[in-house]
Amino acid sequence: MTHENTAQETTAAHGNGPARTRLITTKAELRAERAAMDGTVAAVLTMGSLHEGHLALVRRARELADHVILTDFVNPLQFGPGEDYEAYPRDLEADLALVDGLVDLVFAPSVQEMYPVLPPTVSVTAGRAGTVLEGAARPGHFDGVVTVVTKLLQLTSPHVSVFGRKDAQQLAIIQALVADLELPVRIEPVEIQREETGLARSSRNAYLTPAGKEQALALSRTIAAALAAAPSLSGIRAALAGALARGEIAWDYALALDPATLEEAGDDHRGEVLVVLAGKVEGTRLLDAAVAVATAP
Ligand code: PAF
Repeated sequence: MTHENTAQETTAAHGNGPARTRLITTKAELRAERAAMDGTVAAVLTMGSLHEGHLALVRRARELADHVILTDFVNPLQFGPGEDYEAYPRDLEADLALVDGLVDLVFAPSVQEMYPVLPPTVSVTAGRAGTVLEGAARPGHFDGVVTVVTKLLQLTSPHVSVFGRKDAQQLAIIQALVADLELPVRIEPVEIQREETGLARSSRNAYLTPAGKEQALALSRTIAAALAAAPSLSGIRAALAGALARGEIAWDYALALDPATLEEAGDDHRGEVLVVLAGKVEGTRLLDAAVAVATAP
């Protein structure tokens, strides 16, 4: 499958999916294909380099709608200077092979197609929520995310769009985007997919050596320890503090947040707590997250 500027068909490979998966690279083609779809539509927005975690999104999308559109676009706006935009893994042929017969359309535009003017004249900002945690480490990242997500949701016009819980802050910001800008789409969170070792699946795991992958297990071990300490809020915090103190990876943060505000859960917080972790292994930034329920101090 080549990335040409015309719609292409791939052969169905997965039985009960749509008979054909079409590769679309222009906004005009996407709009025409979308307008011709009967029934409900789910959008799976990705930056490609698809893995089992994305397939879980696709499977959930297929449960939720009659048609699935997968977008495959490495968005330059969400990478800062010195980040891995150029190096970010790209393999459209492998992506197409993986979702062939599972989705109706793959939309894989060029940067020029998505952004005739770069940076765009008008863009969306994520506000305060976009400046903390990942946003503090990656200034402008979430503004780039919400700008491309707004464009992709406009273009695909889905009834529902699925997002993984690993990128917990991204999920919270996209939920706020949809609510604040009255976008007519439902956001459906999907559970984190893990490798057999427990490591959360991520396209960036491809950067890690076997030793790095071993080291990265500090993230999933810390999630497990925090969940085991629930329902005690102080127990959850102690598990996170213990991980930071051990310093098995170059931690950026390990925090228990109020999911509504993305601020640290106060001593009297009860109910859901969003546990978020970020750190670097072999220079690669990795995330993990979980929702715990705190009913005791
Ligand atoms: O989560 C991602 O892969 C990206 O941030 C997204 C939502 C596709 C926007 O580029």
